[in-house]
Amino acid sequence: MTTTLRPTAKLRLGVNIDHVATVRNARGSAWPDPLRAALLAETAGADGITAHLREDRRHIRDADIDALMAALTVPLNFECAATAEMQAIVLRHRPHAVCLVPEKREERTTEGGLDVASDQNRLKDFIAPLREAGARVSMFISHDPRQIEASAGIGAAVVELHTGLYSDLLADGEIALADRELDALRAGAELAASLGLEVHAGHGLTYENVEPIAAIPELAELNIGHFLVGEAIFRGLGPAIEEMRRRMDLARGTAA
Ligand code: PXP
Repeated sequence: MTTTLRPTAKLRLGVNIDHVATVRNARGSAWPDPLRAALLAETAGADGITAHLREDRRHIRDADIDALMAALTVPLNFECAATAEMQAIVLRHRPHAVCLVPEKREERTTEGGLDVASDQNRLKDFIAPLREAGARVSMFISHDPRQIEASAGIGAAVVELHTGLYSDLLADGEIALADRELDALRAGAELAASLGLEVHAGHGLTYENVEPIAAIPELAELNIGHFLVGEAIFRGLGPAIEEMRRRMDLARGTAA
């Protein structure tokens, strides 16, 4: 299978600021401000900002999206579930990119990929107006070829491959299983690129596990949040992002 991307193409880093809002909301105050974090992330080298407006507004809130849309100079990747409410919000704001994710109220985080294959007709209709509004529509999916092919079939521009299982397996010391998962992610990225999709990846990425993912040549973007917000406690958000950028560039062969 051939791909069009050069292995050394620079990988974009999207910084997810949801958990700055989680800390803010824990005290019901206005601090820390997710917009301030986003602006700092821009300065530290983020190529984009990702924010997930969940149905229950547990972290990012509508006012945060208003503020981000007004102030960011890098693109906003708006993550949401495929609901009528979120569609209306996207059409009002017209963000650069929209990433559709599955959402369950009881989950702690986005646990699995979107089941595009079982919901193709609805999702095709759902994304049509978003595409017309100029958004790059992404599907957050597993590396299952059925999901990748279905995403291409409904007209998505991008797939984001879920790296959560890979990161969990590595964290549990299940090296052989993590290697197998990495191989499946590589194969998924190759298939997606061969179908003309731009390929992103994210979930659970850290300094320890990012390099094998960043080295997958078809990937154009990683979206990373929870680890960076945690690491910011120890070294500050700017330096935490700069170190992630350094590791991504090293793995990619694009270090200065
Ligand atoms: N990509 C998507 C689609 C996500 O839903 C998330 C988590 O909100 C991330 C990336 C970032 O994952 P993490 O916070 O574990 O880095």
